[in-house]
Amino acid sequence: MSFPKNFIWGVAGAAYQVEGAWNEDGKGPSIWDTYTHSRRSPVHHHENGDVACDSYHRIKEDVALLVEMGVKAYRFSISWPRVIPDGIGDVNPKGLSFYSELVDELIANNIEPMVTLYHWDLPQHVFDKGGWLNSDIIGWFDKYTRTVVEALSDRVTYWMTFNEPQCFIGLGYYNGSHAPFLNMSDRDVILMSHNVLLAHGTAVRTIRKYAKKTPMVAFAPTGPSVLPKDESEEAIEEARRKTFEFNDFGYILSNSWWADPIFLRKFPDGAKEFFGDDLPDFTEEEWDIVSTPLDFYGCNIYFSMKSKEDFLITAPKPLEKTGEGLTAIDWIITPEVLYWSAKFFYERYKLPIMITENGCAMCDWVMLDGKVHDAQRIDFTTKYLREYHRAAEENIPLLGYIHWSFMDNFEWGLGYDARFGLVHVDYYTQKRTLKDSAYWYRDVIASNGESLFKD
Ligand code: BGC
Repeated sequence: MSFPKNFIWGVAGAAYQVEGAWNEDGKGPSIWDTYTHSRRSPVHHHENGDVACDSYHRIKEDVALLVEMGVKAYRFSISWPRVIPDGIGDVNPKGLSFYSELVDELIANNIEPMVTLYHWDLPQHVFDKGGWLNSDIIGWFDKYTRTVVEALSDRVTYWMTFNEPQCFIGLGYYNGSHAPFLNMSDRDVILMSHNVLLAHGTAVRTIRKYAKKTPMVAFAPTGPSVLPKDESEEAIEEARRKTFEFNDFGYILSNSWWADPIFLRKFPDGAKEFFGDDLPDFTEEEWDIVSTPLDFYGCNIYFSMKSKEDFLITAPKPLEKTGEGLTAIDWIITPEVLYWSAKFFYERYKLPIMITENGCAMCDWVMLDGKVHDAQRIDFTTKYLREYHRAAEENIPLLGYIHWSFMDNFEWGLGYDARFGLVHVDYYTQKRTLKDSAYWYRDVIASNGESLFKD
């Protein structure tokens, strides 16, 4: 009952959520810096990532924790404005060398670095120039990509272009809950989506062209995954259809809005009818760029919803009946989602699956004995991983599982209230404490998943 040979067990984090050092060593501001500093910021307690987990100053200490947990991979993101402070012009050598040192430290400890190029911290200067509305961003992002690839690809194999375009466009410019907290028209949001898709495809080509060793390239989308009511053929078909369904209200959060153009070289069914002239077509050449082949399908998956409408309109509180198990931020506990998503995404997009994020926020604190007894996270992850394993049993190719997150960190609009980490962080002292789940995960990894099946 173990996972495939060479299965990658990892943990993840993202630059703005952990690094801090928001204005050190030449880093430029990102939209998250600017907007969390605004007196009108809606983030809980007016918190920001100025210091966060101070990971910028703690490479060795943090990698030592990864070693203690026995992880095989660390997925982290690169801050575009740390590498190119205004996003467009000169490279900041100190910013680049921070990531190079991190990669060295990981490699020295046999931990595979997995790079995400964009996890939401858009350079403020790029935003001032129109951000995702300005098609010049495709070239600016490409230059940044090439800079990073030239610096790190002698040691990095795994590359992800964008983390969750559903969220950085959907929450940032469509429902206004993430920086830059805007609520824009469909016309504008569609234009931004097109520029994201083109920037993605262009970056994939650049990674392949300049990588010094053969890369594994993907992006890391999220989206609604719908569970079948039972395992009858009809129910499974209905869940499959809803997982990829598209409607004019929730399109930006859907799977198919982003993944169909990339993998199927087309807009999702219904898109043209909904948007008419607001949805300009790509030229043939642009379609070629958007659909540049990838190596695996990254999935960031936390929960399912029994009713997709709920997700698209009020995400994320898809309760069907009272009293269902919820995490500390009210996300419904639905372990089966890892099985059904792996199955549905593999069937439709035909690439090996990697869970690039999965995990839960729980009410964790350091207890009297100095430890963090997070039994709920252990239970949650055991159940999710058992379901994921079901996909392996059906010979769906699974490349890995990356737990979100390595350590507690800045949880965007929720500030520091939500703790997702396997490692507890005391934000006043920056003391890190491995939670029980971190030791548990170490055993799971050491047994390649077999320990999950011992009661
Ligand atoms: C994001 C992370 C975030 C996590 C939990 C994902 O949507 O990629 O940055 O912290 O979910 O909300």
